[in-house]
Amino acid sequence: MKVNRRDFLSKAFQGAALIALPGILGSVLESCNSANPTNPANASSLSTIQATSQSGLITIDINSSSPLAKTGSAALLQFQNGSILVDHPSDTAFNALSSICTHQGCTITNYDAGSQNFVCPCHGSVFNAKGQVVSGPAGSSLPTYQNQYVNGQLTIKVG
Ligand code: FES
Repeated sequence: MKVNRRDFLSKAFQGAALIALPGILGSVLESCNSANPTNPANASSLSTIQATSQSGLITIDINSSSPLAKTGSAALLQFQNGSILVDHPSDTAFNALSSICTHQGCTITNYDAGSQNFVCPCHGSVFNAKGQVVSGPAGSSLPTYQNQYVNGQLTIKVG
């Protein structure tokens, strides 16, 4: 059987595509998984903490009954001027973040304890414990607030 140049190239290309396909699919699936480790459907509502700011500072006790007592926990801190997301990523470290989603301004109220990511209830944007975007539609990080943890008390500078 005589094979012309066009048939040869066509068959060679199809063979190369079949060989490369599993690798390409694997890369695409892997990048999707690493870009979005949080399924918004798995997130649940954050516990809330009521607080008051005085002279631009909020101070809360982190005792055994606090929703923030355990490493990996998070809460929505509500005060007279709004609310703040607070999480507890390691022993003595806390993050205080704006709870206003950078996509369209919804208040972020959900948290996935497994991945320790916050989830916006409006369109599913996911933010990590430092407020960085894990997946959109939000395109920018949540602003952060300075905080200090001393002797079981967390102080957050909000003003
Ligand atoms: S307002 Fe948060 S994802 Fe749209």
